[in-house]
Amino acid sequence: MPEKIYTMSSKTEFASKLGLIAATVGSAVGLGNIWRFPAQTQEGGGSAFLLLYMACVFLLGIPAMLAEFSLGRGTKSDAISSFKVYTPKRPWWLVGYLGVVASLAIIAFYTVVEGWTLEYLYESITGNLFDGVGTTHKETFFTGKMAEYINTDSRLIIFVIVCVAVNALVLLGGVQKGIERLSNWLMPVLFVFLLILMCVSLSLPNAIEGVVYFLQPDFSKINAEVVFGALGQAFFSLSLGILCLVTYASYYPKDTKMPQVSMIVVLSSVLVAVMVGLVIFPAVKSFGLDSGSLEGATLVFVTLPDIFSRLPFPQLWAVLFFVLLAVAAITSCVSIAEVPIAVLQDHFKMSRTKAVLIVLIPMMFVSMVTALSFGSLSDLTFFGMTLFDIFDFVSANILLPFISLLVCIYVGWVLPKNFFKDEVSNHGMLRTPLGNISVCLVRYFVPFLTAIVLVYGLL
Ligand code: PHE
Repeated sequence: MPEKIYTMSSKTEFASKLGLIAATVGSAVGLGNIWRFPAQTQEGGGSAFLLLYMACVFLLGIPAMLAEFSLGRGTKSDAISSFKVYTPKRPWWLVGYLGVVASLAIIAFYTVVEGWTLEYLYESITGNLFDGVGTTHKETFFTGKMAEYINTDSRLIIFVIVCVAVNALVLLGGVQKGIERLSNWLMPVLFVFLLILMCVSLSLPNAIEGVVYFLQPDFSKINAEVVFGALGQAFFSLSLGILCLVTYASYYPKDTKMPQVSMIVVLSSVLVAVMVGLVIFPAVKSFGLDSGSLEGATLVFVTLPDIFSRLPFPQLWAVLFFVLLAVAAITSCVSIAEVPIAVLQDHFKMSRTKAVLIVLIPMMFVSMVTALSFGSLSDLTFFGMTLFDIFDFVSANILLPFISLLVCIYVGWVLPKNFFKDEVSNHGMLRTPLGNISVCLVRYFVPFLTAIVLVYGLL
């Protein structure tokens, strides 16, 4: 593969409009929607959480996304250089470094769950996942399997290596031939597989109970902690805050209709989250599983295999689901890694291959250590959280909203007065109400509200 150095003058771009949308949707729709969302919904009391999540996505997410898009396409630069184009003498580029730190923190735990996903996919294909399912008590069978898979150090490490290797292959292919081509193929697969699983789940007896639990709002469950969780989940699931969307938008052609792209990305992300809810909760209620006692990671890796085992053709559903999860994980993980890689390429003028290796090889070791949070390092805790929990909590709940807030202040107040409006409307070529409303939201509403939620959440 010939190496290409992308400088700002020969800036690479996505090859097609569809590819650009697929790549950005691919970044947004990931483990955040399929693995993190159901767990958070469960903890946040079902539909109350869903409602708050939607409010955060539409009111804060869209303007914050347009702010990142504008900064990226308007400067055609990576996460750090984009802050130097208009304000070279002021320290705003520190926000860029913060974005890079956040992206590395996410990679550190994201690759672990991606590793589990690949392991589950492998075990589903070989059929091992269901080996001996009739022999022990069903309720504990899959908890035992998960323990076997994720508590064994050697297995954890092997699958982290496999997962980093898969990401490296895509990233070495570059923006067009790697990221764009992969997303073009795989995003439609993801939607089709999810639709099939949703139909299966909704056709189970008593599925309606789960639908009601998930969709009927119960306002009494809303409190500061749930709002804080919903905000973090909204920013995480939209890929906001690590300047990943700044990086991707720097590959957008100048005539890209960014308000339209933002709407497609946001709607896809919400749609996938809702569809995942409609796969999980109806099935949980239908089989009378005690979803209350299941928390976090286990919802997808224990409850779903359990559900599949009660259906005809369990192996088929398991393969379908873990392919879907792997697709979502890979297209997102490459977008997270693209942030530091683009910085090394553009800002530090390295070749693509060197940049990919410099980011991924050290991160592979960090991820291995994080993975051991479930194995031999499970006793290593700070404030009651394992290394894995810390990376998850600090990045999603604190860093992402905080950095998004700074980006909105920068775009809304520091850049030239008309910068944002010009970018969103393609210099007046697009007549979009979203543009005008967003200016106001980016300047006042998003920074103010995000700050309040952050402060309350941390108190
Ligand atoms: N949005 C991705 C997901 O939901 C995660 C992500 C976060 C990707 C931040 C890029 C930036 O899985």
